[in-house]
Amino acid sequence: MDYFARTRVRDIISGQKVDQEVIILGWARTKRLSKNVGFVEINDGSSLHNAHVVFSPPADFPELERIITGTSLRVVGKVVEVKGREQAYEVQASQLEIVGDCSPDYPLQKKRHTFEFLRDIAHLRPRTNTFGVINRFRSKLSHCIHQYYQDRGFYYIHTPIITTSDCEGAGDLFQVTTLPLQEIAARAQELDLDEDFFAEKAYLTVSGQLEGELMCTALGDIYTFGPTFRAEQSYTSRHLSEFWMMEPEMAFCDLDEMLILIEDFLKHLISFSLEECPEEMGFFNKWIDKGRQKVLQSIVEADFARVTYTEAVEILKKAGREFEFPVGWGNDLQSEHERFLAEEYFQKPVFVTDYPREIKAFYMRVNDDEKTVRAVDVLVPLVGEIVGGSQREERYDYLKENMIQQGLDIEQYSWFLDIRKYGTVPHSGFGLGFERMIMYLSGMSNIRDVIPFPRFPRSARF
Ligand code: 4AD
Ligand code: MG
Repeated sequence: MDYFARTRVRDIISGQKVDQEVIILGWARTKRLSKNVGFVEINDGSSLHNAHVVFSPPADFPELERIITGTSLRVVGKVVEVKGREQAYEVQASQLEIVGDCSPDYPLQKKRHTFEFLRDIAHLRPRTNTFGVINRFRSKLSHCIHQYYQDRGFYYIHTPIITTSDCEGAGDLFQVTTLPLQEIAARAQELDLDEDFFAEKAYLTVSGQLEGELMCTALGDIYTFGPTFRAEQSYTSRHLSEFWMMEPEMAFCDLDEMLILIEDFLKHLISFSLEECPEEMGFFNKWIDKGRQKVLQSIVEADFARVTYTEAVEILKKAGREFEFPVGWGNDLQSEHERFLAEEYFQKPVFVTDYPREIKAFYMRVNDDEKTVRAVDVLVPLVGEIVGGSQREERYDYLKENMIQQGLDIEQYSWFLDIRKYGTVPHSGFGLGFERMIMYLSGMSNIRDVIPFPRFPRSARF
């Protein structure tokens, strides 16, 4: 239907189409009808703004009567400039056609719905202002991430969604199987993995890192950007069971070199948002978190803070406050500790490096003290941990020892050990949680509201 001839509303709003005849395809937001003139606001999803369409005289457009909020329309008209009104352009309609009537029980009324309410109404949620903005922003930021790495010579690697290894060693895995589990349970029968699809245990990936490490030892600098899955029983506002992660992996690169890349990359995403997404950032600043733009601007201008885990523990001990979880060398930092460091102590993003070996994954490079590893987390105000990464253990013996200590099956991971056997190189990588970055940039407070179809325990709707 006029696919290549139509005009997107954003191009009308920006003034590109003035004095031209356009075809608009979209959905009615509001209608006002009087004897002499009719107005319909049409939104086509290309912008927060609507096309303001004038029907004069309304008697020439009998279908106006049928239009309610949500009706889909095809309008032909001429774009004219109007002075002294909020909207600089309007469309004087010459044709109107209803594409699809809207049932009168359509719930998008003038009143504002809560984000929780909207999560249950699939057809409505993406048509609201907030989710329109969020989804357009996600699209732009994804493109920006690809552009950043492509411009720097990284190759985009498609790592598998189904895998047989547990990268984080945390055991929060969704198992993938075609076995008739109900039948097996009913017959009180043992699972015979040989009859399963892959003839071994397989899972949805928690990270593309292990395969990414393999690929970087052939292609140099690579990145992955895809969905990852974790079966954690986490009901927090910062955890999803399915989330998107971007993971670069750099050969011949140590942790200090990588920290420079991380800071440049995160600042690039902030600058891009401020400069290239004025509609989205203006919306967030006005409706979600007042003053967001100013905060972000100040982040770009200053250096990130840097501390080791050991220094962070000292800061927390001297904080002079009761934390729910105890602070002590060897304990993992909890969300409350991370937020204290980023929000109150440093009041900006902070790199925390060199965590105790026991609380981090098997692949991280062991420091000379044999007690800590070359890990890095980036903590930011509002969200907490946004990036996790490390320099990788490139020494065969150390890695093997680590794997044994953490109870991994060496046979299963022999391919990963082999990277250290055939021309090993120092290498480093990290993972950026895409939804957490969107939260940080937008000020949205619940991660479920920055992804189109949130998955969390007991919920995988639509
Ligand atoms: O710190 P994580 O677990 O690190 C890894 O998975 C490494 N393999 C990455 C690498 O070195 N290539 O996860 C990385 C980031 C976290 O910092 C956080 O931003 C995000 O992924 N993340 C989650 N986001 C939403 N929901 C969850 N359940 C998340 N778990 C981690
Ligand atoms: Mg982490």
